[in-house]
Amino acid sequence: MTDQRREAPIGVFDSGLGGLTVARAIRARLPSERLIYLGDTARVPYGTRSAHTVIRYARTCASHLAARGVKMLVVACNTVSAVALPMLRVELDVPVLGVIGPGARAGVAATRSHRVGILATAGTVGSGAYPRMIAATSTRCEVVQRAAPLLVPLVEEGWLDGEVPPLVVRRYLADLIAQDVDTIVLGCTHYPLLAPLIEREAAALAGAPVAIVDSAEATAEELAAVLEERGLAREGEGGLDLMVTDLPDRFAEVASRFLGQELSREDVAAIDL
Ligand code: DGL
Repeated sequence: MTDQRREAPIGVFDSGLGGLTVARAIRARLPSERLIYLGDTARVPYGTRSAHTVIRYARTCASHLAARGVKMLVVACNTVSAVALPMLRVELDVPVLGVIGPGARAGVAATRSHRVGILATAGTVGSGAYPRMIAATSTRCEVVQRAAPLLVPLVEEGWLDGEVPPLVVRRYLADLIAQDVDTIVLGCTHYPLLAPLIEREAAALAGAPVAIVDSAEATAEELAAVLEERGLAREGEGGLDLMVTDLPDRFAEVASRFLGQELSREDVAAIDL
């Protein structure tokens, strides 16, 4: 039974493409694991919706992956991690890992001034999940949040540089930098693709380097620890199966950029939830 559990895949889901940044970090850290990635491209974005709706969507994604016999579930979406983690942990029989805890802990570890900025979707900011998690990790940290809703469509369009992204990024960062943060946690799956730009603009505004924290690597690290602890780590060659709820062609095209590897339409299955 334990051997069978170990061989089972790990489910990873997100509202769409962005969670592939987390899948990529997991592939790099745990190359022997088999991942099943589900992107709910029919209902993206989640970050502008109510908690009630996000919880409903999260439940259908998680049940689909549970039915495929996953040994663990990684919620790659910050918005889902912010509002639906307790529900998923109660309802599923497998361990569930979100991205907010790892991201918050990495932010606390990076700051020297104990002033941490959070850049995230409106849903994640509204939930207060990052300030709560940071308060649970450190009693000294002050947290400043800023919703950055325009960054998701920019990334979806592949606008990572050029004229417009720096203007938008600067506008969002100004509020955080004005409050003297020395560290910014990228609290949304899509933002790591803009990390070089965010780092550059933040340093220019602050007149000093600002640490930019991406929760993907911290999440992969915590996943490795949980698998080890529970005797669930797999050996041998791993893999990645991709599923989406809409527009698999477009997903394959843009996903190559998120994953840093070439994908074709045949690599992506279309499913109904
Ligand atoms: N995956 C979402 C998150 O990390 C960003 C995209 C969306 O709004 O659905 O919060």
